[in-house]
Amino acid sequence: MEPVTEIDNQKTKISERELPFQKVMDVRSRPQLRGEQLLDVLNEGFIRLNQWIKPGISAELNPFAQMGAVANTLFVISLVSGILLLFWYSPSIHHAYESLEALKQGSVLGQFMRSLHRYSSDGMMLFLLLHGLQVLVAGKFSGPRWLAWVSGVVLAVLVWLDGWLGYWLVWDQRAQLVARASAKMLDVLPFFADPLSRSFLTNESVNSLLFFLVFFIHMLIPLGLGIALWIHIMRLNQSVFFTTRRMSAVIFVSLTVISVIYPATSATKADMLTIPGELTIDWFYLLPLVITEHLKGGTLWVLTLVGITGITLVPWVLVKRRSQTARVLESRCNGCTQCYQDCPYNAITMMPRLEGKGRSESYAVIDPARCVGCGICVGSCDPAGVEYPLLEPLQMRKWVDALLTDLPRGNGHSVRIAFMCAESAGGTLTLNASGESPSMPGFRIVPVPCAGWVHPLLIERAIRKGAAGVLVVSCDADPYCRKGVEWTAKRLAGERKPAFRKEKVEGVPVWHIRLDRTERKELQRIARLMTENAQLPAQNQTPRWRRWSLAAAVLTALALLTVFPSDAPLIAARDPQPEIVVSFKHPGQLVEQQKATSQKDEKLLPHMRGAATLERVRVPVRLRVWIDGREVIRKAYKPGGLFHDGISLAMETIPL
Ligand code: HEM
Ligand code: SF4
Ligand code: SF4
Repeated sequence: MEPVTEIDNQKTKISERELPFQKVMDVRSRPQLRGEQLLDVLNEGFIRLNQWIKPGISAELNPFAQMGAVANTLFVISLVSGILLLFWYSPSIHHAYESLEALKQGSVLGQFMRSLHRYSSDGMMLFLLLHGLQVLVAGKFSGPRWLAWVSGVVLAVLVWLDGWLGYWLVWDQRAQLVARASAKMLDVLPFFADPLSRSFLTNESVNSLLFFLVFFIHMLIPLGLGIALWIHIMRLNQSVFFTTRRMSAVIFVSLTVISVIYPATSATKADMLTIPGELTIDWFYLLPLVITEHLKGGTLWVLTLVGITGITLVPWVLVKRRSQTARVLESRCNGCTQCYQDCPYNAITMMPRLEGKGRSESYAVIDPARCVGCGICVGSCDPAGVEYPLLEPLQMRKWVDALLTDLPRGNGHSVRIAFMCAESAGGTLTLNASGESPSMPGFRIVPVPCAGWVHPLLIERAIRKGAAGVLVVSCDADPYCRKGVEWTAKRLAGERKPAFRKEKVEGVPVWHIRLDRTERKELQRIARLMTENAQLPAQNQTPRWRRWSLAAAVLTALALLTVFPSDAPLIAARDPQPEIVVSFKHPGQLVEQQKATSQKDEKLLPHMRGAATLERVRVPVRLRVWIDGREVIRKAYKPGGLFHDGISLAMETIPL
């Protein structure tokens, strides 16, 4: 495997006439990844999903455009419903099952709370998986994002563990399998003198203290989740942490409907003397049960550790070459703090200026270890004080000027400028040295890593130099450079600094359109409209009935995706054939044996040798089992303990 190439921040040479990029994509801020093409194809799945939803559901209510925030809201619902469930649930091995069964007849509210707790936890796992998959295929794990990625893996493990232990607390047959699988894995670790699995041999031997411990850990894990979540987003500026009130209400109402139609149920009560046969499980949390009954504890540990390590190492294994980072030229910085406010990754710090009388008190400094190279700070800086090696702002200014000089003017010869985000619908456009593409006649295209790279002054400048219109094309639903689309829209609407001054360009159209990679045709259509001097079509003209049916389709699909896996058959369950389990804990007979004498001693006469030492060891305990006259087990169990003087332990399962 090739090592990750270090960032060499070499400046791209842009001559006044020729752009050294053949494709808009060449200015992508995304690092080079291994398996990039496959990731792109998979990412297109998410993009198409959003494209399908976009005409009917606003970004605020689109669950796929804010999957992390949806997972968070579901976490809160799960937490609150879990706490309220304690009014009905009894955390004791003897009463847990009955206390939950009693809800069916005894308490509508209790049953609702139980179902809400289950489905919010399931929904959380669903959105966690979708969110993790989306950041993976979008390549949003490299560079400084490693912290969000690694803490995301920790979050996933903690959420899963909490759900796994939650099912233990019902003390039904699912809990029985969960307990046995957990004990099997824990017994591999050298912690317990007496294997935990032995506590699940009979109903009497089940350890009630252990049950309470599981309950306690189940309550404690959300605290760890809170800490991991804080780390998860600590490097993100203005994170979309929770869904809006409207979206949260939609989530809550959907969960309520599911809970009423399909209330959560338990399996048959746990019975250690019965092998659970056919039963349904919650695939979101209990899927490992498909293999735990068939594999040994050690193998399960190897699979778990290899899986978790592999996923954790993604940011290091998949990145071939890191993105270039931005740098502030101290001499140009006037300390306005705009880049500091705009940087989506909190990579900029304002430092006090120690020298330079009459200048601003502070200047901006970019920490390369935190910079993802999105270029948004270039679009923040009035004095062009940010150096962006891939696309130098000052050189690009000259290049835009050059594009617009010496052009024949008049009807049919006017030229428009398109600032094209590399992740947008125009990402795959090929360009000639003058920035022209046959797909967008009448336009000179300026490729940019993110629409946020474009400073409004550059747009005004292009118009001053003669551009007959400016199109700013950004990506849409889930921007690779977070905040890029939002800041661009606000800057162009004059709602955020540096604000675009409409009055300076009166009569010249400046359109900001959001189109993802899959919407090339729409881009060409809108570009044509601009060249025909038409109006920008108003968005969201979808008829109301279509919007409602789309929303209903999305909600139904999500509800089905939550409910069906939550009560699905346990594939590859164990054969419920009878079996005999033989287990004992027995001390072998103590024997004393003389320790071997040293060679030196052996050469001496017996009365001249040193005192002989006696060793006390236990003999192994032997087990022989016959069934119908046939011997099925013949085994010896060595004594435990460091000095082989401990107790012999046996646990054998004999299928009949
Ligand atoms: C309980 C589960 C999780 C929750 C609640 C959660 C929540 C969030 C939130 C709110 C954001 C910020 C989104 C934004 O403002 O742009 C985020 C970002 C992120 N999450 Fe998660 N997340 C979870 C699990 C995961 C998992 C399992 C992974 C992957 C292993 C992951 C990887 C990331 C990454 C890499 C980012 C940064 C994305 C970017 O830079 O644009 N998260 N998450
Ligand atoms: S805004 Fe600038 S400093 Fe912040 S991550 Fe993007 S390129 Fe780096
Ligand atoms: S936006 Fe430019 S001038 Fe303002 S603080 Fe940042 S680098 Fe300095």
